[in-house]
Amino acid sequence: MPQASRLETLFPTLEQIPQTWQPGPAIEQREYLVDGILESWSGPLAPVRSPVCLREGEALQPVILGSTPLMDADTAMTALDAAVRAYDRGQGAWPTMRVAERIRHVEQFLKRMREQREPVVRLLMWEIGKNLKDSEKEFDRTCDYIVDTINALKELDRRSSRFELEQDVLGQIRRVPLGVTLCMGPYNYPLNETFTTLIPALIMGNTVVFKPAKFGVLLIRPLLEAFRDSFPAGVINVIYGRGRETVSALMATGKIDVFAFIGTNKAASDLKKLHPRPHRLRAALGLDAKNPGIVLKDVDLDNAVNESITGALSFNGQRCTALKILFVHEDVVQPFLEKFQARLAQLKPGMPWEPGVALTPLPEPGKTDYLQGLVADAVDKGAQVVNEGGGEVLQSFFYPALLYPVTPAMRVYHEEQFGPVVPVVAYNDLQTVIDYVLDSDYGQQLSLFGNDPAEVGRLVDAFANQVGRININAQCQRGPDQYPFNGRKNSAEGTLSVHDALRVFSIRTLVATRFQDSNKTLVSDIIRNRDSSFLTTDYIF
Ligand code: G3H
Repeated sequence: MPQASRLETLFPTLEQIPQTWQPGPAIEQREYLVDGILESWSGPLAPVRSPVCLREGEALQPVILGSTPLMDADTAMTALDAAVRAYDRGQGAWPTMRVAERIRHVEQFLKRMREQREPVVRLLMWEIGKNLKDSEKEFDRTCDYIVDTINALKELDRRSSRFELEQDVLGQIRRVPLGVTLCMGPYNYPLNETFTTLIPALIMGNTVVFKPAKFGVLLIRPLLEAFRDSFPAGVINVIYGRGRETVSALMATGKIDVFAFIGTNKAASDLKKLHPRPHRLRAALGLDAKNPGIVLKDVDLDNAVNESITGALSFNGQRCTALKILFVHEDVVQPFLEKFQARLAQLKPGMPWEPGVALTPLPEPGKTDYLQGLVADAVDKGAQVVNEGGGEVLQSFFYPALLYPVTPAMRVYHEEQFGPVVPVVAYNDLQTVIDYVLDSDYGQQLSLFGNDPAEVGRLVDAFANQVGRININAQCQRGPDQYPFNGRKNSAEGTLSVHDALRVFSIRTLVATRFQDSNKTLVSDIIRNRDSSFLTTDYIF
């Protein structure tokens, strides 16, 4: 079917939506969670618009899914106060609780969370336009992450249950919480990425204020009761509203100890600067990236194209790990472009619930204008949109644009498009590609596509000090979650993996004593009498 007619029928009428996926009545959310109570917000609400539009005659109307509290700074502060009280300068029930007991609370939460799979998946599709398969994957992967986190903590705790003896000093080392944590996630993985900081923060004994992402907000609502019922009052507090009104005020108090944020480096810098005690604030940040895919001359072209297609266009390129620029050797650039176009034409545009759909509408207002601007700038400076229909827009939908030849003069060479625009640069001298990576402001990941061991080996060494992960003949990605996920420069602060996240949200405390009879007896008595939660040799099964 020609591109134009495909787009004409892209958005459905209400009747065309299958019964199971009908949007249903708008949800007016007034609840927010503070100090173990689902409070009701009586102030203004922010409308939640779906990227999905409905066809009504000739007109296309975005679906209004409902509304969420547009909280003010004073109300947000009640959440911070509750988290501060629950932490109680490290003396609260939660930060001092035995690990095995904290694990039981998280297990209880997980059980309740699993019961909410259907409404959360449905809202993932409607709120951010993620297709059904990927929405289900996001939910399931998040549950798996929680299970893996519990197992990793058990393992960590088992190792900490033994004493060590060094130079006549007896010691026991345990990881303990850091304090009050502010968790904010991104709209592209509003559940998964948020929970990869929220769950480790909680399970390590920190108390949390959690503000959902700018889109993908309503989907947290089905989990509010599970949060309320699974954790002691004040341990997890959920607030809503604009970041600059709510979160800025919280940071300025200096009462936040850990800042867990996935978003832009600019927003992270602005918020960090508000904290009056910079050395008290720990940060776990996942930020911008411009991951390059580098296609060498000696390459399995079909594999390079397949990986680049999913790398650049899964969830319409709205992944921090997406391949955002492709450098292709000039000897293979023409066949690469032909194969890429052919594969791209097979990607099915449509609504998130349609079977096999790959390209869906974009949730950010103004995003299609921004992407059109990037394409226009590139075309103005000599690039072409290579694929049929590339860059066509219908309301919130942007059909992917394959741009070639892209040069350093163009904005898309430098800017993180975070959307379905695929810039291709032809190169002859590998040094120009190496310099791109060395000079980049970002340093998350890259992909190398090639077969020549000498060439691939040399490039691995050239890039090992530049990015957090080098993928050989594969797209960039975060998983498996057991591997480190990090970045250099403006791309990240700290490392997240199941194992690393437990470390990021905690610090080691050592209890030490001279190895002499009186101290041995004292420590043995403490353990036998169970006088301490820290000094124990309990083994978690
Ligand atoms: O948006 C950034 C995500 O962490 C990427 O995760 O590679 O699994 O899509 P992913």
